Amino acid sequence: MIVQTTTDFVLSHLTESFLSCLILYTVYSTIWNYRKPKVVHLATGETPAVIGLPKTYPWLFPKLRSRLASFNNIYAWMDEGYARYSKHGKPFMIYAIDGDMVVMPPSVLSEIKNLPASIMDIRALETLAVRYTFDNYVATDMFHIPIIRKDLTAKLASMTPAVVEELDLSFKHYIPKLATKPDEKGWQTVTMYDLILKVVARTSHRVFIGEELCREEEYLDASIDYAVGVFPTSMALNCFPKFLWPLLGPIFSIPLNRIRRRARKHLEPVILKRIALIKQGVPESERPNDLMQWLIEASLTRGGGFATVDAIAARVLTVAFAAIHTTSLSGCNTLYDLSWLASKTQPGEQTPSEMLRDEIMHVFPPPHEFNKRYMQRLYNMDAFLKESVRLSLIGAIHSERNVTAKGGYTTSNGWYLPKGTQFTFPAKARMEDEEVYERPKEHLYTRFYRGDIVEGGNTFEEQEEVTPQNEKERKLDRYMVTVTEDYLAFGQGIHACPGRFFAALELRTLISWWLLHYDLKSMEERPPSWRFVWLDIMNTEAKMQIRARKQG
Ligand code: HEM
Repeated sequence: MIVQTTTDFVLSHLTESFLSCLILYTVYSTIWNYRKPKVVHLATGETPAVIGLPKTYPWLFPKLRSRLASFNNIYAWMDEGYARYSKHGKPFMIYAIDGDMVVMPPSVLSEIKNLPASIMDIRALETLAVRYTFDNYVATDMFHIPIIRKDLTAKLASMTPAVVEELDLSFKHYIPKLATKPDEKGWQTVTMYDLILKVVARTSHRVFIGEELCREEEYLDASIDYAVGVFPTSMALNCFPKFLWPLLGPIFSIPLNRIRRRARKHLEPVILKRIALIKQGVPESERPNDLMQWLIEASLTRGGGFATVDAIAARVLTVAFAAIHTTSLSGCNTLYDLSWLASKTQPGEQTPSEMLRDEIMHVFPPPHEFNKRYMQRLYNMDAFLKESVRLSLIGAIHSERNVTAKGGYTTSNGWYLPKGTQFTFPAKARMEDEEVYERPKEHLYTRFYRGDIVEGGNTFEEQEEVTPQNEKERKLDRYMVTVTEDYLAFGQGIHACPGRFFAALELRTLISWWLLHYDLKSMEERPPSWRFVWLDIMNTEAKMQIRARKQG
């Protein structure tokens, strides 16, 4: 009722409403700018240059116009700032639609990436407005992160058969539903992203919530829709000052709550059943053994609000949010690359798909028994995936952080960041810097090949910690999952993606399955991606031509 009346009023007084908003915005930003402590170089008094301010009428609402222009200009601004400032060890600033962002130079990354939350914390809580898009308990204690990093990674070998089985079943289930009927030569057309998204969602959920629920279409759709809904909701909130969030958060998250109820309907009976098993004292060995089970057990240990169905369901959706779109985008990008690079292959040369298929035949010949060990020995596959992920970074920036230390933080090169400063590092510009990667914009799929080092006995575990000594000696930086300061696809330091080992296993399995069962028709051009504020999202609409391979 109130919302309806307010909307009617605003619509019938458009000019007045617009002018009132502009005045409120000017007053608010003038006061805020005056009061806000500034980032400054302590020795020289220099402050970071702002990139992206309007050049015409620079006095007319420069910040507001810059924020609006940030929708489609950030990538150009990042390239400019990277060349002019980052490469000289200096920060720069951008007024983006979702707030003021300081972009720090890569030269200070190593001193910052492992600092504890008491000095600086991950900004996701605010960027994603976790308290409103997920829930208060997820925002208060992110205990799912160590569970993913330790428990899930430790169980990868025993989970591989389930991953392989679900992948096989879901491809066989979704291809007939999503692809056109084969033409006379057997070619079918499919929107590849739709297919991979469904397959990855179902396969990941097999490991996250078990066989019972992972094939429930309504639940899967809800978890996908939820992840899609988080970005617009959090971005809309970020357009408003923080003190309005408690008021606006519950309103903006109404559509998300609706989706959550759809997911909860399916999660609730399973969560309750599993809680009952624990309370009845059923021994651990007889209880389900998946991510949701570990999350339930950790939630019960914390007790109170953490142990409610709502909080547990919100945490399951949080993990799905972090896992499913990232992995689907990477898998689909890899298939685009395989298809597009085939059209660049010279006559008589092997296409990348043929090269990877040969490797699969060599490492695990028919009947193709997949296991984690074999997956780790697919060196060409790992190198190909790593290069595809490098070139299809989802964001212009990485490692967003917020200074939490009371007295702020001063970098070793003298830049003072007051408490509350939100900052980040350049990702795309860094990964496309010629001084960092040779021919950086090209897909060189042997760039990260490591078979020459480990052939004859792969004794290294990719979870092995990378130190300056072993990285050099064993070239561990060539593993897809290895995080170095020049490979930024999984973030950095203590907040580097904890699910990357699982993602790597799932992606290798997915591409292997694909190459053994289907051909891809080559594409002349790679479908262009879509850029929006900080994000660079692949073209999810592109159609591909696929054909089943003869088995046997
Ligand atoms: C190819 C697939 C994936 C990519 C490219 C990716 C990328 C990333 C990146 C860039 C970050 C941010 C790190 C930072 O801010 O420094 C991140 C964090 C995270 N990822 Fe992934 N991710 C992938 C798959 C997964 C999977 C499969 C899971 C779960 C099983 C997962 C769970 C998480 C979680 C929970 C965080 C938050 C970590 C923290 O705040 O400390 N990710 N991921």
